[in-house]
Amino acid sequence: MAKITASVYTSHVPAIGAAMDLGKTREDYWKPVFAGYDFSKQWLKENKPDVIFLVYNDHATAFSLDMIPTFAIGTAAEFTPADEGFGPRPVPKVIGHPDLASHIAHSVIQQDFDLTIVNRMDVDHGLTVPLSLMCGEQDPVTGAWPCPVIPFAVNVVQYPVPSGQRCFNLGKAIRRAIESFDADLDVQIWGTGGMSHQLQGARAGLINRAWDNAWLDTMIADPAAAAAVPHIDYVREAGSEGIELVMWLIARGAMSDVPYDAKDAIELVAARAHPIRSRHRFYHVPASNTAVGHLILENT
Ligand code: DHB
Ligand code: FE
Repeated sequence: MAKITASVYTSHVPAIGAAMDLGKTREDYWKPVFAGYDFSKQWLKENKPDVIFLVYNDHATAFSLDMIPTFAIGTAAEFTPADEGFGPRPVPKVIGHPDLASHIAHSVIQQDFDLTIVNRMDVDHGLTVPLSLMCGEQDPVTGAWPCPVIPFAVNVVQYPVPSGQRCFNLGKAIRRAIESFDADLDVQIWGTGGMSHQLQGARAGLINRAWDNAWLDTMIADPAAAAAVPHIDYVREAGSEGIELVMWLIARGAMSDVPYDAKDAIELVAARAHPIRSRHRFYHVPASNTAVGHLILENT
């Protein structure tokens, strides 16, 4: 059966993609940002999954105010990097995994989550920047991402946005879906976006180091408590775009130490038998307007 081996969490700042595409990664401003991913690139080479389930948000690129799916799963065979206004990023196209994506859609919908199934979708910096950070530079024509990727888009742009609790519960359902797929696949689940940032209004430029780091501590050690944080706290403490962090809770909810039902004794024993291992933690301010956060958690 398929299994989740690890989760990866990272910010997706578009200027990071531009720094890579324009050869600026060695500039003083960018060096400390990319240094935070040296370990991660090596780790990914040594722990290459068969599929990455990548939770991200679309920034009015594939979707617009015409149509706003709360949760959208990409079931296509491939996804093209989007033109976000300056042309598409020079990175390889993203190869999907239609069989696993369709299975997850079926299982998760049967577990009472309403997903939008998307058979054609371009992917913006929300998805391509995390791939670039973790995989390093890739030639757009001769290069390739290390494995198929299932894009999973969450609406955190246009209100109403899903709560952290719903995202966390959805993560549990995604784990159950993956673990019921009849093929020996190692799957990583990535949660992306965040950390604190606000791009508009009177508080534009807001960064909250203390809140970000306290949230990371809780998210790692007591994810159910992090899931209970109401959406208004993200907006108040981490800025209007800080709400992107609820996407990290989808990945966290899919890890082995989280019981599917916290009131079920058998589930609790299984969760306690499989604590997670924190392999890497990085935090840096600033990158563009954003606090960059990054974590790697492994299942045991
Ligand atoms: C920035 C951050 C984002 O998450 C985004 O989607 C766009 C811009 C920024 O820091 O500039
Ligand atoms: Fe964003």
